[in-house]
Amino acid sequence: MKISVIGCGYLGAVHAASMAKLGHEVVGIDRDEAKIAALAAGRPPFFEPGLAAALSSTLKTGKLSFNNDIAAVAGADVHFIAVGTPQLADSPAADLSYVNAAFEGLLPYLRPGDLVVGKSTVPIGTAERLQAVLRSAAPMSILAWNPEFLREGFAIKDTVSPDRLVYGVPPGEEGFRAVAILDEIYAATLARKTPRLIVDFATAELVKVAANAFLATKISFINAMAEVAEATGADITLLADALGHDKRIGRKFLNAGLGFGGGCLPKDIRAFRARADELGVGSSLAFLGEVDAINLRRRDRMVELAVDALGGDPAGKRVAILGLAFKPKSDDVRDAPALDVAARLLASGATVVATDPQAIETSRRVIPGLEYVDTPALAVEGADIVLLLTEWKEYRGLTPSDLDAATGRILLDGRNCLDPRPWRDAGWTIRSLGRSEPATPRLRDREESLVAAG
Ligand code: UDX
Repeated sequence: MKISVIGCGYLGAVHAASMAKLGHEVVGIDRDEAKIAALAAGRPPFFEPGLAAALSSTLKTGKLSFNNDIAAVAGADVHFIAVGTPQLADSPAADLSYVNAAFEGLLPYLRPGDLVVGKSTVPIGTAERLQAVLRSAAPMSILAWNPEFLREGFAIKDTVSPDRLVYGVPPGEEGFRAVAILDEIYAATLARKTPRLIVDFATAELVKVAANAFLATKISFINAMAEVAEATGADITLLADALGHDKRIGRKFLNAGLGFGGGCLPKDIRAFRARADELGVGSSLAFLGEVDAINLRRRDRMVELAVDALGGDPAGKRVAILGLAFKPKSDDVRDAPALDVAARLLASGATVVATDPQAIETSRRVIPGLEYVDTPALAVEGADIVLLLTEWKEYRGLTPSDLDAATGRILLDGRNCLDPRPWRDAGWTIRSLGRSEPATPRLRDREESLVAAG
């Protein structure tokens, strides 16, 4: 099948390469010339495991090409809209200008029978609005909404072998035609018995934002429990394990720590709330405001722990930061909790030396004032305090001897990814979000009062 993918950011570049991997003839379109040149040369403009290999193998076969000019969509039977929907600068709502521009740009090239497929995460009602435009501008073309659930770090796998496929289609004959075309595109995926749900536009749009809202809520739930754990001496990691054994709850997305960031979860829950307000059901999603607030409070708490450990004043102190990306296996620092904490400590007068396996360049563009070094051993040289903020595999395996060059022996584990025992045995003070020091004063007080009470 001949496919165009409009927008070659995270979603679009991965989608274009994945569709070519599935055997389709694909052209990826983006107006960013540098991005197109890099992709056409087989170089992903961002870090994503497997993407370079997928690009080079499919570029070689001639199945995949990239172009700056929207006119290159001409001749494709299916057009995926995969542009970004970031948060507006002055409101929590989503910026739809890229979606609108992609759609408008596509219209002159549509032929009867073409299928336009929205993949971008959009506010509910967007597909219906675009469908009305399509009806008058290109009445023989069909619109479908096929949300994407890919995770950074696993993007190719999630695109080629997703947990489920959701097709939002119009009613009647057009819907049948859309389903048939999408089935042909995803034939290899469907052959693996991937569940496929055929729904209306609003449900398709809602599935995506509801999924992200659920995931964000699950993370904030465990982080709220972490706040309670900190106040009571409970251990959040043991609590998460105990909760997770209940199959109805499950252990995934119950890792307490610095919370969620990235280009999706934070802005999607805000845009979802904003849309719910517009739809008159704001109170149904009011809890997402709390989900957002709990999440942001974890960053405050980490800064507070660091300032506390530095004796109340970070000015002139040396802070080592291990991990900047919003999560491992990514160089993405959009709304990254780690970078936010690093920036705040820098603003309070500390010298902040940071490292990350992939996100140094992306971080430098946002916060040039941090000192960037290549390894944890270099980052901790002369550091008064060490903060582990992204749980890269490389950092989960650290041992006290790896950080010998630190001056201070204080480690704040922002992702609960280290076993504190060997660190404490080696003379480190290790503090985590949601886990107190063993025998916290509060707990000791309680024990003493129990003893006193006989
Ligand atoms: C998310 C959704 O998972 C994906 O389905 C959607 O298509 C896009 O948004 P992504 O942004 O790649 O994907 O990251 P995800 O793996 O969901 O993690 C989001 C954030 O939550 C990260 O900052 C991560 O560190 C944090 N997180 C995740 C936790 O703090 N605890 C957890 O238990 C899990």
